[in-house]
Amino acid sequence: MSHSILITGANGQLGTVLTQALQLKYGLENVIASDLHPSKSYEGIFEVLDVTNVERLEQVILQYEVKQIYHLAAILSANGEKNPLRTWEVNMKALLNVLEASRINHVDKVFYPSSIAVFGESAPQTNTPNDSLLDPVTSYGLSKAAGENWGKYYFHKYGLDVRSLRYPGIIGHQSNPGGGTTDYAVEIFHKAVKQQPFTCFLDEETTLPMIFMDDAVRATLELMEAPRENIKIRTSYNIAGISFSPAQVVDSIREKYPEFKVEYAPDYRQDIASKWPKSILDKEAHRDWSWKPRYSLSKITKTMIDKLENKYAMYN
Ligand code: NAD
Ligand code: SER
Repeated sequence: MSHSILITGANGQLGTVLTQALQLKYGLENVIASDLHPSKSYEGIFEVLDVTNVERLEQVILQYEVKQIYHLAAILSANGEKNPLRTWEVNMKALLNVLEASRINHVDKVFYPSSIAVFGESAPQTNTPNDSLLDPVTSYGLSKAAGENWGKYYFHKYGLDVRSLRYPGIIGHQSNPGGGTTDYAVEIFHKAVKQQPFTCFLDEETTLPMIFMDDAVRATLELMEAPRENIKIRTSYNIAGISFSPAQVVDSIREKYPEFKVEYAPDYRQDIASKWPKSILDKEAHRDWSWKPRYSLSKITKTMIDKLENKYAMYN
């Protein structure tokens, strides 16, 4: 086998969907999904791989002659704050292993997902520009901001083609989120469709940048397929989807479920969210590789409700 693609953290919210998109595009035999634990949700090749173990990582790269790595494995913002030092250690060690193993074993391209969590109080909170000062407020954000710079370093020093996106909160019906501050925006749709009340861990006016899964996956593929010389930003590209608050998504859901009941009980995640951008500017992504989101809040709401209604109907 040659020119194969390795995905780390493939069992996660994004990995589950991105892996299938890559399999569809490049063929089942050319995509190696990997994570800490085996998964039954994949057809195709799966390897158990803890990315903090560099020997095991190199073994997989050599076995499959890996040429591209989508390095998704990480501990996210909200879970990360429960053990900040471990979050830093896992996120940084995993990334440095991926970069160094790629350099040594002739991997051509690496995808590194960054996040709106790299921004803190020094950045303008509305229409946050790509080149804002980064002063993250979580251990996760610190690791992502440092990781962006390590990607840039490996590009300039060794020519490793590292590309990165700063995703907003990702909303999808296919998989469950894994401990982020934006997770409420997925769970709320599940509760609405199951006709259960929802308790939101953010207050109703907390606006955050969000993106629909289909847009997030398409952005990733478009970035990775763009000609090398077009990629002018080697830290990470802002990509905007849309921005909304819990109150706005509730209004949107109530168009279909007028009786939907919501309570607000902000917790420690409110402190994180209140320091993140409300909206971000992505003109560099548009300029360099023609990025444009396709999903509005009403389109997200309609798609989430339709897909989840089908999913839960199948269980009944
Ligand atoms: P997730 O938490 O759902 O999945 C992460 C996966 O990584 C999990 O399956 C976990 O088992 C795996 N993992 C953790 N430590 C590992 C290790 N040492 N070795 C191998 N696997 C390990 O996260 P996600 O939402 O799918 O996010 C994927 C990537 O995108 C992450 O890097 C995240 O920071 C980034 N991102 C996600 C969002 C979002 O809203 N989901 C937003 C911005 C950035
Ligand atoms: N959605 C992610 C989180 O909340 C942002 O990186 O952690």
